[in-house]
Amino acid sequence: MIIGSEKDVTKAVLSELERAPDPRFREVMSAFIRHLHDFAREVKLTEEEFQAAVGYVVALGRHTNEAHNEAVLMAGTLGFSALICLLNNGDRGQTETDANLLGPFWRADAPLTRNGGSIVRSPTPGPALFVNAFFHDAAGKPIEGAEVDIWQSSPEGFYENQDPTQSDMNLRGKFITDADGHISFRSVKPAGYPIPIDGPVGDLLRAQRRHNMRPAHLHFLTYKTGFKTLISQLYVPDDRYIANDVQFGVTRHLIGNYVRHDEARAPDVKPPWYSLEHTFVMEKGAARLPKPPISGKARGERPAIPHLEPA
Ligand SMILES: [Fe+2]
Repeated sequence: MIIGSEKDVTKAVLSELERAPDPRFREVMSAFIRHLHDFAREVKLTEEEFQAAVGYVVALGRHTNEAHNEAVLMAGTLGFSALICLLNNGDRGQTETDANLLGPFWRADAPLTRNGGSIVRSPTPGPALFVNAFFHDAAGKPIEGAEVDIWQSSPEGFYENQDPTQSDMNLRGKFITDADGHISFRSVKPAGYPIPIDGPVGDLLRAQRRHNMRPAHLHFLTYKTGFKTLISQLYVPDDRYIANDVQFGVTRHLIGNYVRHDEARAPDVKPPWYSLEHTFVMEKGAARLPKPPISGKARGERPAIPHLEPA
């Protein structure tokens, strides 16, 4: 089609999309093109702004490597990951859900660990945390034999993949639920952490005068045939940023009951220590694993990630 005016461009692209044999691809891409073109019309996007936008897309790729995924970080920072999660879980957004963001730090192949074991694999100072998690179906029946991946930041706010001073797979583990749908393990209380701001996500936050902190949390990914893979996080309620997560992940339902204990528990558990208990509900569905956002561990020095203070 020969273009006669700016309106013809949208028509031409949409008509080319009609060639696509996959109906879902046609639906998604047609809507995307309509909204993208209308967006440019609405804000009267200038050529300079368009070039800057292309530069940001290129920068997302340049800042992504085997130990860091800037595209996932950007999706979270725009609230897009939280929106997609809530649109697709809890009866399509109608009911409370245990589902939450995957985030950029899940690695496949965490070491299989026995129930009651520890995921502290190299010296990691900080208050001890004892976790009991239960997995049920929607009718309340325990789910036995589910594989549960756990990962978290250290009390210094670093995942092991970011931090060469932690051993490989420190604060990560895979557990199998018992006949009661139960797993338990020992760890350390996670800390909130700043997300990296040396790439386009940092530019976006600075332009809005936003901080770059996530409140402390523990990640769960639970896999069992016959159930939709459950990706979840349990947030620490007394974290300074609990109501203002840079990734918009905190839902009321997933504020965990981290309980502080000031009495001695065992010779190797100094007070204060913490306990955490939660029952997760898994929805029936296809058990699919997401693509791991990263595959390796950082080398060299531990990065110093600055904290942005909100205006
Ligand atoms: Fe995280």
